[in-house]
Amino acid sequence: MNAGKKQIHLGAHFPGVNNTTVWSDPAAGSQTDFASFAHFAHFAQNAERGLMDFVFLAEGLRLREHRGRIHDLDVVGRPDTFTVLNALAAVTTRIGLAGTINTTFNEPYELAAQFASLDHLSGGRAAWNMVTSSDAFTGENFRRGGFLPREQRYERAAEVVAVTRAFWDSRGSEVVHRGAHFDVRGGFPLPPGPQGHPVLIQAGDSAQGRDFAAATADAIFTLHGTLEAGQAFYADVKARLPQYGRSAADLTVLPGVTFVVGDTDADAAEQAARIRREQVSPQTAIAFLEQVWGRDLGEYDPDGPLPDVDPDVDNIDITRGRVRHARDPRAVAQEWREFAAAHGGLSIREVVIEKTGRQSFVGAARTVAAQMDEFVQADACDGFILVPHLTPGGLDRFVDEVVPELQDRGSYRAAYTGPTLRHHMGLRHPHAPLSRKESA
Ligand SMILES: Cc1cc2nc3c(=O)[nH]c(=O)nc-3n(C[C@H](O)[C@H](O)[C@H](O)COP(=O)(O)O)c2cc1C
Repeated sequence: MNAGKKQIHLGAHFPGVNNTTVWSDPAAGSQTDFASFAHFAHFAQNAERGLMDFVFLAEGLRLREHRGRIHDLDVVGRPDTFTVLNALAAVTTRIGLAGTINTTFNEPYELAAQFASLDHLSGGRAAWNMVTSSDAFTGENFRRGGFLPREQRYERAAEVVAVTRAFWDSRGSEVVHRGAHFDVRGGFPLPPGPQGHPVLIQAGDSAQGRDFAAATADAIFTLHGTLEAGQAFYADVKARLPQYGRSAADLTVLPGVTFVVGDTDADAAEQAARIRREQVSPQTAIAFLEQVWGRDLGEYDPDGPLPDVDPDVDNIDITRGRVRHARDPRAVAQEWREFAAAHGGLSIREVVIEKTGRQSFVGAARTVAAQMDEFVQADACDGFILVPHLTPGGLDRFVDEVVPELQDRGSYRAAYTGPTLRHHMGLRHPHAPLSRKESA
């Protein structure tokens, strides 16, 4: 290992309910077996073989609906996060186990107990991706309707984390908290887990979300995955840390990225084009367009031009239960039209493929490794959360071919150097003095 070189951190996002997962590929597992433990185990064990920091589960508390019907291929659903991660703890030994759990719909006590239990059972490998999504559609599951106005989501999230940490730190003593959202006077039945606090990840992109990450999180999961956008995001969030008494090394920046590894660069490019077309079927292209336009566009030909009509900005909920990252729909529509024209008059499907389906890294293993390393060394990020397109084997080729290239470059560990996820990520134990910061 090159002692002076910045080391790459990798997480592995389990592909299932998201639009980049391809089920039609002969190499994909069966969609109806999606929730079988064999899929999760295969995926996590391969991530561990690749010496990655953690395996990652996203969360959706309700299946997305598009124009009143279950969205696209979401019917496969998601088994409960803690059940899956606790089971994975038994078939892996080193890899971190990261679960996305909402701070809007859960109570600090149960979160503290669930994550502390996962940390104990796994020998210090638990991580919590704290999300704040609070749309009314999801809220219906909790009989709270549109529970929490947008501006209060991070206020509640900060309080959830404060109370949860108080439980983790209590070591048998009384926990007393009085705040806007919680009034707790109690006690916690578990000693701190091996990590003291499970690793905390944050994934919202608003200014409030970034501040919450800077104040609280050990890692931030972002969609700013290109070199330039990554560098701007990286500088922004790292600059927010000092005001919370923290330094740049306390927050690991991990964009979610997609990849295609081929025999040669040309082979990978060919595969990438095929995969993008599988990810964006004609029906999917129209559904994407309807999400931006807020209108029924079922009459439009996916192989024809973009609609002349403007988006209906009052109807942004045409897809319910989706996490919205979109900006002003009119601006997006205008940008897409200009993009189509600038590229010789692209069709609806071609525009959607280019705008939503482009893979982050495409090439032979050596090329992919070189590009990833360049991003990390150029401070566009500290590593990546890999989002493969195949369940369950989407990591296999990356582990077999790209990981050794990263190791040869001196940017990636040759073995795990400690037992806990905090060790893998180079994070200090929360109960240790500042001078004892360990490195990966
Ligand atoms: C990369 C990324 C991944 C996310 N994953 C999830 C998820 O799995 N489940 C979820 O409910 N929200 C998820 N979110 C939503 C955010 O955590 C957050 O609730 C949402 O973006 C709104 O917050 P904001 O206004 O700060 O962006 C994700 C966001 C980002 C950027």
